[in-house]
Amino acid sequence: MRNFALALAIVAACAVPAGARRSADDKIVIADFEQETYGDWKVTGTAFGPGPAAGTLAGQMPVSGFQGKRLVNTYFGADATVGTLTSPPFTIQRRYINFLLGGGMNLEQTYIALLVDGKAVRKATGPNDRAGGSEALDWATWDVQDLMGKTAQIQIVDSATGGWGHINIDQIEMGPERYAEAIVVSKLYAETYRPQFHFTPAKGWTNDPNGLVYYKGEYHLFFQHNPFGTQWGNMTWGHAVSKDLVHWTQLANAIEPDALGTIFSGSAVVDEGNTAGFQKGGEKTIVAIYTAAGDTSPESKGVPFTQCIAYSTDRGRTFTKYSANPVVKHIIGGNRDPKVVWHAPSGKWVMALYLDGEIYALFGSPDLKNWTELQRITVPGCSECPDFFEAPIEGKDGATKWVLTGANGHYMVGDFGGEKFTPETGVQQVDFGGNYYAVQSYSDVPPSDGRRIQIAWMAGSEFAGMPFNQQMSLPCTLTLKETPDGLRLYRYPVREVAKLRGPAKVVRNRVLKPGVDLLAGVTGELVDIELTVELRDASDVVLEVRGEKVRYDAAAKAVTCLGKTAPLAAVDGKITLRVLVDRGSLEVFGNDGAMSMTSFYRPRPANKKLGLTVSSGSARVVSVRVCPMQSAWPKQP
Ligand code: FRU
Repeated sequence: MRNFALALAIVAACAVPAGARRSADDKIVIADFEQETYGDWKVTGTAFGPGPAAGTLAGQMPVSGFQGKRLVNTYFGADATVGTLTSPPFTIQRRYINFLLGGGMNLEQTYIALLVDGKAVRKATGPNDRAGGSEALDWATWDVQDLMGKTAQIQIVDSATGGWGHINIDQIEMGPERYAEAIVVSKLYAETYRPQFHFTPAKGWTNDPNGLVYYKGEYHLFFQHNPFGTQWGNMTWGHAVSKDLVHWTQLANAIEPDALGTIFSGSAVVDEGNTAGFQKGGEKTIVAIYTAAGDTSPESKGVPFTQCIAYSTDRGRTFTKYSANPVVKHIIGGNRDPKVVWHAPSGKWVMALYLDGEIYALFGSPDLKNWTELQRITVPGCSECPDFFEAPIEGKDGATKWVLTGANGHYMVGDFGGEKFTPETGVQQVDFGGNYYAVQSYSDVPPSDGRRIQIAWMAGSEFAGMPFNQQMSLPCTLTLKETPDGLRLYRYPVREVAKLRGPAKVVRNRVLKPGVDLLAGVTGELVDIELTVELRDASDVVLEVRGEKVRYDAAAKAVTCLGKTAPLAAVDGKITLRVLVDRGSLEVFGNDGAMSMTSFYRPRPANKKLGLTVSSGSARVVSVRVCPMQSAWPKQP
């Protein structure tokens, strides 16, 4: 049945008994969009053009995955055009409605809906929300068992005008089978798009990691949290702990909004010397230093942003707000995100605080309660969430430098004697992915361990349809290395991540040339891939992971992935790449952390294909190791 008008006629016929009755096993095509006009579907606006498009439209990336010769493609007149397309009423007679879907991801503005009594009872949107992406269509399925026998309409809406402001639809059918994989949302931590080895809260929104502190065998991860919804708001410090930075247990929320404001980002320290005097008994106090974001809630109307402290005498299980808060009064604008470190040589606490524009300030305090400004410093290209820490220089026994980072992880290396930070590098960048933000490193990691461990918010990780939203990056070790360009930060996943690896598939010492795929037939859902390759005269090396390509361009000396590019020079003719893929991320580490790319990526659940190829010339793969990763979450009953 290729004609949609005719298909609808048959649907209507199904309602009448006798000869026209069809078996419930048959599929019924609601529309195949093979005609030059939309027939009896009602069109408004101009986005839908005069009729179904004959494939790709002018200026569009190639459209694929549709059936026959035509499809609905609202790129007519490019992204700026808007409109709707609505089917005549039909009766729902099969358990599933399957259709091919592609284009922009925007559930509010660019979607296909199933209407019953004029109300949307199901909605779906394409997979793309950023530059790049793909115009390919793929099956989507609605389970409509509960709507059986109802009169419904299909409505396709394009009211978005910016990037990816269009939708592609084809071949709408009713049938007894689902073509797309079922999306699980009900089983906590087993949801279809739940990251399996990245931290997400059970429910609700998260953004910045906060209060990263180690105490008595536990890494605490406080986080910006909206406990009441999957979008930003009601900022509260959520709380999770881990013994190994891999398996997390979420605890009760730690710090909640009050009359001074909602609780914005900040840090935490162990007050070893009881400088604040909060300690009771033998347990050291954990002191949290946070921003009270005044005027962000009805209770704090008209109150400015200030810095406050709260303390815990029970290993972080409960926090008491200091009665004389705030400890730093309002200075300017939205001043926020205090990060505190103990400076042993001068015997004081040092706070890095974001002020405004690209300006930060350092403060000093003997007791976490009384703060004096030490310095103002501009960090070009940076704002929000400072971190300030001392790090050893690798291979230089005992030598250290200080590092100041902004929310985007850009950093300067320099000296700090207790009063003034003097940068000796310009602003540097270590991560080139699209979703690396609000970075913070752990306080109080024991000297016997000695690592500087950083977590970033993978900002922009939109898990539409899931009970949670956004996620944290992998915890990574930061190291300072001497390079020909000066001191640089390296960033690499903490070694504990490897605990989740299953048995590896390893290929060694093989020549890679056009036509050869060294990972042909290898699949994986959650994977940790390590690749060392001698480039020889290969133009590129392409690691395909579940529908996305991580491509090293030998001439450009750079890796591209998900529309981003990161520089990576070969060392002795070789490069190494480590690529970790979870249900919502793709992280790339080049040459043991010389650069990283932290990106949100939601592979299609069904696509588990891996590949390793070159386009021209040949390379020698020293080794490629593909490890399946286990979930870090306990199995739910
Ligand atoms: C960074 C940020 C911080 C602020 C917090 C609010 O992502 O904007 O500056 O404290 O998020 O949630």
